[in-house]
Amino acid sequence: MGPEASAATPPFPMPAGSAPILEVSEVAVGYGGVRAVDGVSLGISPGEVLGVIGPNGAGKSSLLGAIGGQVRASRGRVQLGDRDVTRMMPHQRARLGLMRTFQTTSEFSRMTVFENLVTSAEGNSGASLAAVVLHPHRTAVREREVAERAWSVLERFEMTHTADLYGRELSGGQRRLVEIMRCLMREPRVLLLDEPMVGVAPHLTGKLIDDLRGVAREGLGILIVEHALEVVHRLCDRVVVMAFGKVIAAGAFEEVVKDPQVQSAYLS
Ligand SMILES: Nc1ncnc2c1ncn2[C@@H]1O[C@H](COP(=O)(O)OP(=O)(O)O)[C@@H](O)[C@H]1O
Ligand SMILES: [Mg+2]
Repeated sequence: MGPEASAATPPFPMPAGSAPILEVSEVAVGYGGVRAVDGVSLGISPGEVLGVIGPNGAGKSSLLGAIGGQVRASRGRVQLGDRDVTRMMPHQRARLGLMRTFQTTSEFSRMTVFENLVTSAEGNSGASLAAVVLHPHRTAVREREVAERAWSVLERFEMTHTADLYGRELSGGQRRLVEIMRCLMREPRVLLLDEPMVGVAPHLTGKLIDDLRGVAREGLGILIVEHALEVVHRLCDRVVVMAFGKVIAAGAFEEVVKDPQVQSAYLS
């Protein structure tokens, strides 16, 4: 690094090694007078799991919303690879591979797991009546590819036995898995998870951690907001700590939890 570059040491944690797949710069979110996120910057490289922790009301969910596009950033920039996605709608970001999981809806309950996966696949609208009439062969090939992908995702998460179950028949933990699997149907580059362990039985959290580590190893970047520190410890490569809308510490879990500022933020 040349002498002129040293002045530009980023005030935020950037992954070592490969170029970041997601880069968040100075993002702010406000609700009326409330500054929920106040100039947060971070980056994730492919294959990395970054945890965001901090006390209730710190701005973690708002930050995730600003990255996914569900919440408007009043300032700052969100970049996916070399694309500036700051002003894009959530579905546009999702099409580029930046995806956030959502709690399941009633529609989810009325479909089988397999149907849920197939309908989340990108370009599912290709099965419209017009497409079937105009391009019957292409539509059939596409359908077969989507079905194959659904089976491979089910196998990966050891969920093939649930393929024909209706969403309403699943346990809380299985629902969480299907929410993540639905995102994976669309081959995301970055996955945003907001407290995915909520509702997961304690004996299954270990499996979910292993599954998430497995998909990250294949090159996916994961940004996860998680309350349970033991989960963060086992799952995340690096951790960002937020309080009052700002990053107050960042680094390896062991280092970050020793930080006096972090300890007082959690105790206050
Ligand atoms: N839709 C909203 N309207 C108004 N205030 C909100 C809204 N969502 C969150 N807030 C406020 O923004 C702050 C950050 O909230 P949030 O992002 O949910 O934090 P966290 O996920 O860390 O608990 C809190 O003060 C919260 O009350
Ligand atoms: Mg939250």
